[in-house]
Amino acid sequence: MSVSYMTHPLIKHKITLIRKETTGTNEFRKIIEEIAMLMGYEALADLPTTDVEVKTPIETTIQPVIDGKKLAVVPILRAGLGMVNGILALVPSAKVGHIGLYRDPETHQPHEYYCKLPDSIDERQIVVVDPMLATGGSAVDAVTMIKQHGGRKIKFMSIIAAPEGVSALMKAHPDIQLYVGCLDRQLNENAYICPGLGDAGDRIFGTI
Ligand code: PRP
Ligand code: URA
Repeated sequence: MSVSYMTHPLIKHKITLIRKETTGTNEFRKIIEEIAMLMGYEALADLPTTDVEVKTPIETTIQPVIDGKKLAVVPILRAGLGMVNGILALVPSAKVGHIGLYRDPETHQPHEYYCKLPDSIDERQIVVVDPMLATGGSAVDAVTMIKQHGGRKIKFMSIIAAPEGVSALMKAHPDIQLYVGCLDRQLNENAYICPGLGDAGDRIFGTI
């Protein structure tokens, strides 16, 4: 698996803003979407293109367009939903699948409750999105579920990751490409990322 860590100053700046506990729901949601768009721009740099003929007001020319089946964006519910519109701003024709997983607060193990993916998933470039990669349990299970449905070309985008999560995902799925906004120090005893930003789902949706 290849891991790419984001270096763009705009991404770094925006991640700092969402870490602040005083950042409210409205702003938090908006910035998550902006970060997803900036990270998507980096993660989709290798999308294949094909040449087509277009007629400009001046002459006919051969120019590139994105090739192949439409992209599939797959958020891990709930928090991943906050990143979807950022990717759709770049690729409006992308299909959207959903994977429902929640972490048991005691065991920190992921529990699956939903999976609905676009058709021809085996032919699509898939971008799985979840702002937080903590123990990696949810990410590992989500990618396993996508593979069980036939998905092959998988990229995973997380805004903040713990070293434990990166290692777990690399070990379980060495064939995927991982994009991380910022690598944090470690997990605490409740498997929350330190320094992190708290509970991403609660902060996006304004729940406690
Ligand atoms: C959070 C987060 C990830 C998961 C990461 O979701 O959005 O999906 O935890 O933790 P892990 O790497 O240890 O599995 P959560 O289970 O809190 O659900 P939510 O998005 O519905 O709040
Ligand atoms: N899920 C979150 O939302 N935050 C963490 O720090 C860990 C898991």
